Amino acid sequence: MELKEAIDLRHSVRRYRDVPIEKDIREQLDEYAFLLSKQGGLNIQIVYDEPECFNVRLARYGHFENVKNYVVISGKKEKDLEERAGYYGELFVLKAQTLGLNTCWVALTHGKSRAVLKDGEKEVILISLGYGESQGVSHKNKDLSVLSPDYAGAPDWFKKGVDAALKAPTATNQQKFRIALKEGNKVKISTAGIGPYLKLDLGIVKCHFELGAGKENFEWA
Ligand SMILES: Cc1cc2nc3c(=O)[nH]c(=O)nc-3n(C[C@H](O)[C@H](O)[C@H](O)COP(=O)(O)O)c2cc1C
Repeated sequence: MELKEAIDLRHSVRRYRDVPIEKDIREQLDEYAFLLSKQGGLNIQIVYDEPECFNVRLARYGHFENVKNYVVISGKKEKDLEERAGYYGELFVLKAQTLGLNTCWVALTHGKSRAVLKDGEKEVILISLGYGESQGVSHKNKDLSVLSPDYAGAPDWFKKGVDAALKAPTATNQQKFRIALKEGNKVKISTAGIGPYLKLDLGIVKCHFELGAGKENFEWA
């Protein structure tokens, strides 16, 4: 399965089965995390078989159950750190989905992670990882006329990009982004209003748009 196909299958999953991740799947995940860390200038670590981080009241209150594996995304404090964490983290999320795993981005509802940070690095966000009790459910979408007013008259590649962007996870499903078609094949994506984790969301949404539209069909404005 390609990453693009995983977009339709992915939903946040917070309750997991008590099944360890197999050795060969771990190897594929580790390899991909290493590659993405390099490409994104990030430190993406996977912590396996560690139940304590999500065994706290906050996580239980957030409806997390049986989380024993998680990904920690960290990086040097730079202006675009959050957006990069979103973009490369979502590539990881989709890869995990192709391998039959489920995930959930987790900014708040977790305890202390076991990630080992290097000097000057900041922990940005976690992603829970494992075999879900269910496959989750589709989220509600804001109106297309709000998120992408150019949609109706736009070329096919743009529509596919927006369709994929609508399926992107955003913090509290806030979908505070706008996608506009500019002159030629330029696409402008921006955040709209205020809210938590907007830059992370933006990176995630960009990742989905690129996979849906095809990078070869457009340029970011
Ligand atoms: C940046 C970010 C942070 C998130 N933080 C949390 C969190 O702390 N706790 C939680 O339960 N879900 C969290 N989520 C998951 C969102 O609630 C979820 O993605 C959204 O409701 C859309 O649902 P879906 O992922 O099933 O499409 C987060 C998602 C994103 C993108």
